[in-house]
Amino acid sequence: MPQMPDPDRAGQGQNRGAGLNSYPETFYAKVAGTKMKILVVHGPNLNLLGHRDASHYGRQTLAEIDALVQKRARELGAKVATFQSNSEGALIDFIQKERPDSQGIIINPGAYTHYGLALRDALADTGLPIIEVHLSNIHAREGWRRHSVIAPIARGQISGLKGQGYIAALEALVALLQEEEKP
Ligand code: DQA
Repeated sequence: MPQMPDPDRAGQGQNRGAGLNSYPETFYAKVAGTKMKILVVHGPNLNLLGHRDASHYGRQTLAEIDALVQKRARELGAKVATFQSNSEGALIDFIQKERPDSQGIIINPGAYTHYGLALRDALADTGLPIIEVHLSNIHAREGWRRHSVIAPIARGQISGLKGQGYIAALEALVALLQEEEKP
């Protein structure tokens, strides 16, 4: 996907009068005239990334992953709101609160992937496109991890790419939303 200028920065500082602020509006990730907003939601135990089994989850902390996601979102001209909780209710409250002005969701539901039916209902009720992300390859681990109750309501699942999976999900979701905006 081509690099896109950050509309927040276009026309400022060193970009002033340069090529960047002359990009057409359509280069920016927009939905119905407003900047696209994507929720990036992390479930239980993901606050401990950096201390969990690196062979499954990599060495990056959650703060490092979120910072890279925010950076890529700026490049794509999209807005991202990140959230982590160890509690299913708090994840649902966040999704319900943010739903009205959001256009898509990237979620790593942690262990709720395998049995979190209330979380699944909350995600389905948003009606938004959802991408499920797992740092580890859940299909190459214990049998019980292979089953996801989220997968049937997700557009797609990215599993096994460690922190890079969130970036792949963001790029895919922005592209999908832009595609679906086309008349
Ligand atoms: C996980 C996989 C889940 O099975 C596990 O419970 C997690 C993390 C992953 O990112 O690989 O906590 O979602």
